[in-house]
Amino acid sequence: MLIARSAAPCRASALASPSLRARSGFQQKALIHDLVIKHKTGQPILGAGPYGGGRSSVSGHVATVFGCTGFLGRYLVNRLAQKGTQVIVPYRDEDEKRHLKLMGDLGQIVPMEWDLRNDEQIEECMRHSDVVYNLVGRNYETKNFKFQDVHVAGAAKLAMMAEALGVSRFIHVSHLNADANSPSAFLRTKAEGEEVVKKAFDGATIVKPGPLFGHEDRLLNQMATYPITWHVNHGQTRMRPVHSVDVAHALEVMMDAEVTSTGQTFSLAGPRTYTVGSMLRLVESLTFNKTLRVGINVPKFALMTAAKIGDLAWWPMISPDEVERRFHDDLPDAPGTLGFADLGIEPDILEERAIVYLRRYRSNLRFEQPVEHSGVKLKKGRYHVVD
Ligand SMILES: NC(=O)c1ccc[n+]([C@@H]2O[C@H](COP(=O)([O-])OP(=O)(O)OC[C@H]3O[C@@H](n4cnc5c(N)ncnc54)[C@H](OP(=O)(O)O)[C@@H]3O)[C@@H](O)[C@H]2O)c1
Repeated sequence: MLIARSAAPCRASALASPSLRARSGFQQKALIHDLVIKHKTGQPILGAGPYGGGRSSVSGHVATVFGCTGFLGRYLVNRLAQKGTQVIVPYRDEDEKRHLKLMGDLGQIVPMEWDLRNDEQIEECMRHSDVVYNLVGRNYETKNFKFQDVHVAGAAKLAMMAEALGVSRFIHVSHLNADANSPSAFLRTKAEGEEVVKKAFDGATIVKPGPLFGHEDRLLNQMATYPITWHVNHGQTRMRPVHSVDVAHALEVMMDAEVTSTGQTFSLAGPRTYTVGSMLRLVESLTFNKTLRVGINVPKFALMTAAKIGDLAWWPMISPDEVERRFHDDLPDAPGTLGFADLGIEPDILEERAIVYLRRYRSNLRFEQPVEHSGVKLKKGRYHVVD
């Protein structure tokens, strides 16, 4: 099926040769692959512009990304906008959304103020969208929002309103370790959140990422700045870190990959498993900071007490719930869930990417030194745990 679209005649004649057209990305007609019919609603989504996305293309989708002002949100908004999707970016603080505005063409990034307790604002944010992402989550409780409010009641409300408004796709980001029996309230409420979302939105996609690493992460950055808080459990806690860029890519692919992802759950952990001790060794080698491995083990009660005292401060430090999580291994992929391979993505390996995020912790004398000088061996078995 071909859908005719007008094109400027001078441009068309200049690009008369098919090879020239292919190389320029210029397209005169919208083809069948530009048209997506949404399974759930039968709504047609028609793309336009350069094939395969890019600036000035239009994917035809309108997506709302709740939680876009956080770490993962910026990578997702960037990917969506790059593919020509119009992105609604709900924000609470004026300054938190400024960096997102530049990620798309003029008019493609639409900031809207919202509050998790304001139904009118939520409805306004997703009224025109065919895809809704829920990335809202908090590592710690606040005076106004407990884990239950954010991960359960908030998630249920967003899913219910998306269903009522006829949204075709609801993609909910949970956690790899979400577990109804976990000692961590964060992980218990994440598990409860998955259930309420599945009930509220027919065919919701659940995404369970492992601990994320990247520029703004709370993993490598914290290991480099506050290593003492990681010297627990004798460095034996196992982690499956995953690149934030890969998770954002997977979330973007899910928008169109209806057959594989409607009503499915994805476990998105990194390809290798590490102990916290081996990750600290990696951070030490890449930053040349010998003080990271002080060789002590902080007992749980000591870190927990410090976290409880720190919790009284108005700015977030390490919360008691985070301390609890530092003693628990990352879970294997939940049975029956899909992974990166089902979306055609090969996730990055931590040792190969970590330097990008850790170079800033080097002293100016050794800032430029190549990775090889740091003694980091990228071969299998050096840092990751071989199961
Ligand atoms: N980071 C990880 O290692 C990791 C691993 C697995 C799963 N996840 C999950 O992935 C999602 C995104 O993670 P992230 O690292 O990007 O989180 P993040 O940086 O903490 O960002 C969280 C987002 O949620 C919003 N939010 C939190 N509480 C809210 C509330 N009460 N009302 C409205 N908005 C609220 C924040 O908005 P404001 O900017 O306005 O505060 C922010 O946009 C979360 O659900 C998280 O649990 C993260």
